[in-house]
Amino acid sequence: MSAERVNVAIVGGGLMGREIAAAIQRWPALIDHPVRPRLTAVCDINPAALDWFDEIDTVVTKTTDYADILADDSIDVVYVAVRHDLHEKIYRDVIASGKSLLAEKPFGIDGAAAQAVLAEMAAHPESFVRCSSEMPFFPGAQLAIDYVRSGALGTIIEARNSFLHSSDLDLSKPVNWKRQKQFCGEAGVLNDLGMHTWHVPLRLGWAPESVYAVLQDLVPERPGPDGTLVPCDTWENAVLHSRARHEGVQFPLTTETKRIAPGQKNTWEFEAIGLDGGVRFSTKNPKSVEVFAVVDVPGGGREQVWQQIDVGSQSVWPTVTGPIFESGFSDSILQMWAAFLAERHGSLGDRFGAARPEEAALTHDIYRAALQSHEEGRAVTL
Ligand SMILES: NC(=O)c1ccc[n+]([C@@H]2O[C@H](COP(=O)([O-])OP(=O)(O)OC[C@H]3O[C@@H](n4cnc5c(N)ncnc54)[C@H](O)[C@@H]3O)[C@@H](O)[C@H]2O)c1
Repeated sequence: MSAERVNVAIVGGGLMGREIAAAIQRWPALIDHPVRPRLTAVCDINPAALDWFDEIDTVVTKTTDYADILADDSIDVVYVAVRHDLHEKIYRDVIASGKSLLAEKPFGIDGAAAQAVLAEMAAHPESFVRCSSEMPFFPGAQLAIDYVRSGALGTIIEARNSFLHSSDLDLSKPVNWKRQKQFCGEAGVLNDLGMHTWHVPLRLGWAPESVYAVLQDLVPERPGPDGTLVPCDTWENAVLHSRARHEGVQFPLTTETKRIAPGQKNTWEFEAIGLDGGVRFSTKNPKSVEVFAVVDVPGGGREQVWQQIDVGSQSVWPTVTGPIFESGFSDSILQMWAAFLAERHGSLGDRFGAARPEEAALTHDIYRAALQSHEEGRAVTL
């Protein structure tokens, strides 16, 4: 059976727009995928940002006005990667056009924006919508998720999910829109990176019942365009202690979402520990997943051990890549798109899918509770 052809447009040709364009070029690496996407159009208000897309010979439309994309009947799917304050309007316009949308996180600048997008979806059910969150598509993350779902933890003790950056340790790094509340949103780093720390907990059914948050604004000013210091008024780090429930048992769930975690470059970490077993994975060492067990050691006694597994390259959708080879960030983006387009096609089955709009909207409820918790110095019930 031949694959369904899907024409994709990108709105926002910046860091993520280019990353997604490159990932789609690697599509033939996927084995027997039911969809064959082609990037045919790109929009950016900055004409210079469009030049890079000349590298991709399937692109036939370059425009500075996304209305041109929405008016083009040949386009099926739109990926939008723009500033958070622009999410609501552009997402709603895409959905109202009937095209499918892969939206970037945080899915609106705040909870009200996310709810407005959900309302637009309800009015246009023909538009298939998901939110971008690629880290769970690392093979090691998938193994950790499957381990938890297998019931191997037994009675849960605790779980932790972290997403850690560090380049903001450099105080001379210029301010940008992600570090200004009016563009990034009041939740700061949670808006910027929090989908990464919440996608897996929410998919595992660990929606928090209450949140106690400690937020830090470590760098109040940064150099502006002319070098003069200007306000950098977003939270840099957020540690949330939540009560969640796994198989009916309440447990402490800790999420750390940090722009200043010295030494960490885009490190995503997941750990879940129970009375019977445990699992942990970090993208710092992407080949390795650790599982906990009590085992008989030959020549020794019965011991508690963390065992290490090399996971190889295979994730949600099989690829031609040798299974013993390593996986990386761009592989996780390709896998997220494979899951997104397979789910849109109705062929994902029970495989792990891209973040759902209701999960993204729920993150905003969590962030609002976190802001209130920090402000009032107490746990906030959700
Ligand atoms: N999933 C991830 O790992 C990940 C990583 C980084 C950023 N993001 C998210 O992606 C989104 C964009 O971030 P980025 O780092 O790519 O930003 P960026 O600043 O690098 O790029 C944004 C682009 O949007 C363009 N733009 C602005 N207004 C526009 C409009 N009205 N129409 C068309 N283009 C417009 C800008 O000119 C710019 O080129 C944000 O929501 C961010 O949170 C996700």
